[in-house]
Amino acid sequence: MDSASPGSVNKAPQLHHLQHKRKSWFLLLTFSLLLSTLLIIISITSSTSSSSLFYYARTKTTKTQVPHFVESKLHVAPTSPNPVPKLAYLISGSAGDGENLKRTLKALYHPRNQYAVHLDLEASTEERLEVAKFVKSEPLFQKVGNVRMVTRANLVTYRGPTMVTNTLHAAAILFKEGGNWDWFINLSASDYPLVTQDDLLHTLSAIPRHLNFIEHTSDIGWKEYQRAKPVIIDPGLYSRAKSDVFWVSEKRSVPSAYKLFTGSAWMMLSRPFIEYCLWGWDNLPRIVLMYYANFLSSPEGYFHTVICNAKDFRNTTVNHDLHFISWDNPPKQHPHFLTVADYQRMVDSNAPFARKFGKKEFVLDKIDSELLGCNANGFVPGGWYNSEANTTELRPGPGAERLKHLINGLLSAEDFSAKQCR
Ligand SMILES: *[C@@H]1O[C@H](CO)[C@@H](O)[C@H](O)[C@H]1NC(C)=O
Ligand SMILES: *[C@@H]1O[C@H](CO)[C@@H](O)[C@H](O)[C@H]1NC(C)=O
Ligand SMILES: *[C@@H]1O[C@H](CO)[C@@H](O)[C@H](O)[C@H]1NC(C)=O
Repeated sequence: MDSASPGSVNKAPQLHHLQHKRKSWFLLLTFSLLLSTLLIIISITSSTSSSSLFYYARTKTTKTQVPHFVESKLHVAPTSPNPVPKLAYLISGSAGDGENLKRTLKALYHPRNQYAVHLDLEASTEERLEVAKFVKSEPLFQKVGNVRMVTRANLVTYRGPTMVTNTLHAAAILFKEGGNWDWFINLSASDYPLVTQDDLLHTLSAIPRHLNFIEHTSDIGWKEYQRAKPVIIDPGLYSRAKSDVFWVSEKRSVPSAYKLFTGSAWMMLSRPFIEYCLWGWDNLPRIVLMYYANFLSSPEGYFHTVICNAKDFRNTTVNHDLHFISWDNPPKQHPHFLTVADYQRMVDSNAPFARKFGKKEFVLDKIDSELLGCNANGFVPGGWYNSEANTTELRPGPGAERLKHLINGLLSAEDFSAKQCR
């Protein structure tokens, strides 16, 4: 320091300077002492448990508890409390399906719901633009804003895993943009409703929102040799040109880490289950998805295997696909096209949807006039039609009675739980 310097003429002012410095140091110290005492007093007297002292005491007492892994805190999302549910639809098609897709969309339209439409990359650009234009310019869609086209279209290989990725893609878009819907329904352009949306929303208002309608079984039978053991590759996963799946010569064994389930590719899935599949905080949906990448006809197994191996969800399954589908006897690769000859059986099935219908099929006109009461431009009038502001105003008709019969029958069946994931 300065004082170490040998005697000099400057000594006196230096000493003075030093004393002044000490004084200000002392002042600063006293001040900071006062301040910290004040702070401690404040923190003790404020009774909020977030103050650091209390926090320390609390963490000390809980230290003896079993440590939790972070994943165990993630839980299944709650369902919505809306009195009337909302549905999210994916309607997809391929080359030549544009007109049918528009017709199905109108017949399913309700301002409460959300819609995503997809024409895969096999459809020509003109056809896709035509559908995009329709979605954009239809005044009702414009006004409500609940219909969107998946413009970044996917290449979807028939029987390949790209069908499942396309479904997950649309579900993710609806999840991000579609607000708080309750169920996700995957349809194609050759599907058609047999009840009005008012009928459907009215009937679904009365049932728990966590239920998943998915037809399934663990009895995979012949599929073990035809589907589970062969390994397929879907070129749609890496190529821009459409070509069919192909088989590799190696076989694999049936999974032992989880149990395989199979069933219908048509389903109505709850929002919490879709969230579980999309977010993947549990690894099962991701692992099973990667497994199904090499599985023929993955839409008939992916969601079934995930839901039945997830203990939070297996009890939410209802073993039905809500569709009327007519298979030939013995069944061929495709169900047969429905015609007027199937009309009565369709109605008697009480199912809300049927497939598959050919283009401009006459029975669709019959459904429009006798079951849906479509107006001339193809929309199905409901409670919302006259009072567009209020979408919870429903006008259920005979279709609601039929559907209630089906759903009540399923939910009250004695073997209801015996049919879950067996
Ligand atoms: C979804 O819809 C398409 C129709 O385009 C269908 O082929 C597919 O199997 C459906 N199911 C699933 C689970 O993706
Ligand atoms: C599912 O239901 C079965 C019986 O039906 C029951 O034993 C089991 O605890 C339930 N699981 C969950 C997660 O609720
Ligand atoms: C909408 O309609 C429902 C059923 O008729 C009614 O209970 C509700 O109060 C209406 N809401 C509004 C905002 O008018």
